[in-house]
Parts: sequence; structure tokens; C-alpha cells
Amino acid sequence: MAAITEIEDLRRIYKRRVPKMFYDYAETGSWTEQTFRENTTDFEKIRLRQRIARDMADRSTKTTLLGQEVAMPVALAPVGLCGMQHADGEIKAARAAEKFGVPFTLSTMSICSIEDVAENTSKPFWFQVYTLKDDDFMRRLVDRAKAANCSAIVITVDLQLMGQRHKDIKNGLSAPPKLTPASVANMMTKAQWGIGMLQTKRRFFGNIIGHAKGVSDGSSLSTWIAEAFDQSLDWDRIKQLRDMWDGPVILKGILDAEDAKMALNVGADAIVVSNHGGRQLDGALSSIRMLPSIMDAVGDKIEVHMDSGIRSGQDVLKAVALGAQGTMIGRAFVYGLGANGEAGVHSALDVIQKELSTSMGLCGERDIKNVTRDILMVPEDFEGRWA
Ligand code: GLV
Repeated sequence: MAAITEIEDLRRIYKRRVPKMFYDYAETGSWTEQTFRENTTDFEKIRLRQRIARDMADRSTKTTLLGQEVAMPVALAPVGLCGMQHADGEIKAARAAEKFGVPFTLSTMSICSIEDVAENTSKPFWFQVYTLKDDDFMRRLVDRAKAANCSAIVITVDLQLMGQRHKDIKNGLSAPPKLTPASVANMMTKAQWGIGMLQTKRRFFGNIIGHAKGVSDGSSLSTWIAEAFDQSLDWDRIKQLRDMWDGPVILKGILDAEDAKMALNVGADAIVVSNHGGRQLDGALSSIRMLPSIMDAVGDKIEVHMDSGIRSGQDVLKAVALGAQGTMIGRAFVYGLGANGEAGVHSALDVIQKELSTSMGLCGERDIKNVTRDILMVPEDFEGRWA
């Protein structure tokens, strides 16, 4: 394989190797994809301030996330269907994260189950849950996460309703993929992916099938999903969900300072400023633009992480300089996973860490913990004036 020097290299290989329906599932936003696009282009508007003749030796990207020591301020975000991007994808990604020294978050909508991932890794991982109506199922999920020694729960709070992603409908997205003339023709061109899939038994939603009432196979799953999300969610329910877990809780999907204050009130330990990678409300502003106002509102009272749009170490540096304690990457690691399994995720992390470390040095800083807004040049109208 040619040298991997940037995340974009991994995306190109990923696109060649993985069936179109799963590539499209990851590489999509909702409706016009405006928010999806702006999540990355807004990072470009923030510039880094070059400094010289400052000690740039012995740089460190090490920090802590929820009190846990990490190699850099990056965690793997919960991403559904990783086990369709690569055979046993969640186990592969979790192992790469563990070796690298960053947290892995397992999605409820994973192919490998919580137990599968726990058995095949040696460090605790984070587990993500949605805000579902079925209290009994939620409690059992949380108990399973506890039994698997998960170290934090990530509650996705921005998916009461699902934003429409045109490509998933057009492709007839499902796991395992439905065999249609188009999907079969496409899968025939993805030999390596197919061999991996034939060799694993993990091809269904491992946390759900056989665990949620009435869901015994892939076809009953879509009905369950349509009914499972709690459209009438309120902060009392979020508090109830928060209290199901006695360890650290991260609320993911906060994009407004008012909601950030509410998250603080219900006792969250951290929030993730996120618009779900531009997959939910198309027309919302990018996460990086919303970060400063949220930092102003709660930054000194709660740990703030951010995701949506991070594709490089320079992006991580900008988010940290604006005050985020941590970031999450979704697509950036999925590209690596689809391109080359565990080694691909490791290369994605490696690329990001090198970019982060070198760019931080060129800004005149040696320690990520000392990075402040001082290293940035932010356009005066970056947050925008909105009425
Ligand atoms: C689910 O959370 C998704 O974004 O597909």
C-alpha cells in the first residue's frame, strides 16, 4: 500500500474497498448536506498563528478525558454499523484505540455486541446509548455495559427524530445488506471485504437482535427503530437516563448554550458539542462555530468535548485552542477501518497525532495542556450575527 500521509488517503482506499451502501452511510449528511459541508469548511476559516524561536522540543499531546490519561485529546465517536465497514469492525477499532491510548466508544447500533468487544479487548471502553422509550431495554443495556466494565456512558441526545439521509433510502441500507441485483453487482467488486464478511458470524446488530423484545432478526429491526426513539423526550427523562449509570456520563449532541446549561443541571460529567456530523438538522451551524458560545456558558463548570468535522490534527488543535478538553472523530477513523481494518484505524490516529504535534510545535507550544486561544486567528465574524 502506498504511504498514508493524510486522512484523505484512507478515504480513497475505503471508497474502493467497501460496498457503496456502507460508504454512503458514513459519507453523508442529511438533506442538502449544508451542515455536513460547513463542519469541515468552517475549520478552514480559523487560522493558526506561526511562532518561531520558542522551544518546540519534547512535545506532548497527552491529556486527560474524564480523568483518564489519553495519548491525545481524541476519542473514537460511536458509529453505527462499523462491523459492516470491515468484518468485526468494532473489535478492530477498539483494539486500535486501546493500543494507541485513546478511548473507543461502542455504538448501540454496532454489529459486534458489548460482550464481544469486552471479550476481545483488555481496557474499558465507553458505551453509547440513544434516548429510547423502552425503559426495560435501556436498563438492561446499561447493566450489560456495567458487566462489561465500560468506563463511561455516552447518551446521544440529538436523535429523538432522525434527519433524512437520501442515499440510505436510495441504497436500501440494511445490515446485513439485502441482496438486490445492484447490491450484489457492487459487492462482487469488493473481494477483500466479502471474504472478511464470510469468515465472521457477526453480521447483525449484536446489541439488539435477541435483546430487544420482539426483535429476532434484521427485518423486525426496522420496525423497532421506528418505534423505539423517544420523540417526546424531555430533560426529566434525560435525568432518569443519567441516573441509571453511577459512573461518568457524557451527553453528546449539544449545539446550543441553553441546552449546555440544562446538561449541567441534570448532572452530566461532560458534553459533546455536536451536530451529529451534519446528519441530523441540516441548516444548523457547524460545531466549531457553536463551540465558543457554549464554552462561555458552561466551559468553567463542565468538561466540554466537540465533534463534527474533524479530519486532521490541525482541526483537533483548533478545537482545543477554543477550549475543548477533547474531540471525537467518526468518519476519520471509519475511513481507516474500511481501508485496512485495525491497522487502518491505527494509521488514522497516527496521522492525526503527528499533525497535531507538529502544528502545535510550529505555533510555539510544546504541551497540548498549555494551548490556548492565543495560537489562533479567528475571523471577527466567525460566530456570525444572527437575529
Ligand atoms: C445514527 O446515529 C446515525 O447517525 O446514523
